[in-house]
This record gives sequence, C-alpha cells and structure tokens, in this order.
Amino acid sequence: MKVLVLNGPNLGRLGLREPDVYGATTYAQLADRLRAVGTELGLDVDVRQTEHEGEMTTWLHEAADGRFPVVLNAGAWTHYSIAVRDAAAQLNAPLVEVHISNVHKREEFRHHSHISAIAAGVIVGLGVDGYALALRWIADNATTQA
Ligand code: DQA
Repeated sequence: MKVLVLNGPNLGRLGLREPDVYGATTYAQLADRLRAVGTELGLDVDVRQTEHEGEMTTWLHEAADGRFPVVLNAGAWTHYSIAVRDAAAQLNAPLVEVHISNVHKREEFRHHSHISAIAAGVIVGLGVDGYALALRWIADNATTQA
C-alpha cells in the first residue's frame, strides 16, 4: 500500500529550525527514517515537503484519486488554510494529522486546526516519532478501500 507523508511550509528546515521546539533531526534524516519504517511495515512511503499551498492541494488530489492514506503535517496551514482542508476532505483513505510540537501548549493561534475534524486521528507533541506512530497505525488499520 502506498502512503503519502506530506509536510507543509518550513518543515524542510527541521534540524535547523527552532531545535528547542522541533528537535535536532533533519528533514532528510526524518524522510530516510520514515522510508525505513515503511519497508519494515510493508508500506511504500512517499515523503514530500512543500512551501507552496497549491502544490500541497495537488498532492492531496493525487492521494484522493489514488485512494492513498496520508500522514499530514500541514505546518502553519493547519491553522488557517481552508484550501488544504477542502483538499484533504476529498481523501478516500484515512488521514492522520501529525504535529511535532504540542500545539496545545503553545500560542493560542496554534490551538485550532482546520484539519482535525476530517482526520481519522491526530498525534501531537511526540516529536518526529509521531510520524512513525502514524505509519504504524495506518499499516494496522487502513485499506485503500477506506
Ligand atoms: C507544527 C506546528 C505548527 O503550529 C507550526 O506552524 C509548524 C509545525 C508542528 O509540527 O509542531 O510549522 O505543525
């Protein structure tokens, strides 16, 4: 089963970006780790990151058409992008929303997510491990028919 792990703005700067908040793992290390976890779980994991909202919505359309489960960290778009939510709402397989930091312990503007209401589940505050946990849940629970 193919799974898309989609990351929004600034997440390509993991390891450099506010390491006290997001940790020391770089984006490249995270992507390698998730592909390895995918191999272990029998998933074909495709890890992507973009700074462009339209690219993200296009990837979500691709996932909808392919009936692929998605692990989504939409970064700041989580909190204000109706376009990303509308694209994610078209998915035909489970979506797991991931945030590296515990957004609920942070600024008020991070407390609301436009994605959560259409997600199968949400993992926040467990660092980059949240992505691997999401993949494990997908391996155990998702089918492309969902
Ligand atoms: C984030 C939390 C968001 O509030 C922030 O804008 C990000 C990263 C996280 O993974 O903790 O870019 O999604």
